Amino acid sequence: SLPVPNVQEMVRNNPLQVPERYARSQEELEKVNHMPHLSSEVPVIDLALLSNGNKEELLKLDVACKEWGFFQIVNHGVQEHLQKMKDASSEFFKLPIEEKNKYASASNDTHGYGQAYVVSEEQTLDWSDALMLITYPTRYRKLQFWPKTPEGFMDIIDAYASEVRRVGEELISSLSVIMGMQKHVLLGLHKESLQALRVNYYPPCSTPEQVLGLSPHSDTSTITLLMQDDDVTGLEIQHQGGWVPVTPIPDALVVNVGDVIEIWSNGKYKSVEHRAVTSKNKRRISYALFLCPRDDVEIEPLDHMIDAQKPKLYQKVRYGDYLRQSMKRKMEGKTHMDVAR
Ligand code: SIN
Ligand code: FE2
Repeated sequence: SLPVPNVQEMVRNNPLQVPERYARSQEELEKVNHMPHLSSEVPVIDLALLSNGNKEELLKLDVACKEWGFFQIVNHGVQEHLQKMKDASSEFFKLPIEEKNKYASASNDTHGYGQAYVVSEEQTLDWSDALMLITYPTRYRKLQFWPKTPEGFMDIIDAYASEVRRVGEELISSLSVIMGMQKHVLLGLHKESLQALRVNYYPPCSTPEQVLGLSPHSDTSTITLLMQDDDVTGLEIQHQGGWVPVTPIPDALVVNVGDVIEIWSNGKYKSVEHRAVTSKNKRRISYALFLCPRDDVEIEPLDHMIDAQKPKLYQKVRYGDYLRQSMKRKMEGKTHMDVAR
């Protein structure tokens, strides 16, 4: 991993400059600007209803996973933890760079504070910094990277990880149901599961149309739960040949189907490509929590998702190997990688 500048500092020192390494090529800009912006909204799902097995809500989940790969959830019961996480993170990113750099990633590691994985001098860089932590299983935690400032931040992260994991497990249970299985089946494949948190910090950019906060990618997780700021839109997803912004709903969590669900469902549910754009005037922070199976779980389309009309689309693979392969692919494609390993 090559050292690259801290984007927040770069913008603080010189708010009007966009260095060459961050500017997207003309070719890429034409490609992305060609795609229309659509104004439809991703589905909104009530988690309390869903967890009670409400038929209508389960149907909404099925449609959301098939047609969007994304949805927002409300009524999840963990808002208090969301707010604490936002307040503490906001304080953390205001700290002087010397203080934040106490948690800087080592050059061969993805844990800690720094920039997304960088492999070459030619690579176009994302307009963001991030704090990346493995949160589960607890024995994988590297606490030297968990910020001690502001006071209590470690406990806030710990509580956030465990509360949002419960929400994620509710969703995985419902995914089991809409895939025609008993509630507990998919959760059974998440014993000792891996969970990682990435807090993304996007400074404002004087010419936002020249850069991307986060390059287009899909998530290698089972599902990802994302909290975003209320007052600035940044996340955009691919939908019907265009980019759809995911407009923040206060206290909602954005959820997306990851590659693992796409594989288990034999392509019925989609792991959709998404990206983050930056804003001219406002910094944005987002918090992505990735839920993944354990390394040694073998993933392949579930038997009952395969039939004569829908032949098996994906080969069996150990999840740990899948992660490594997709990281390699992403590095070759010089795009972003999502989950630390
Ligand atoms: C976002 O900042 O909204 C996107 C984060 C991600 O894809 O992890
Ligand atoms: Fe993502």
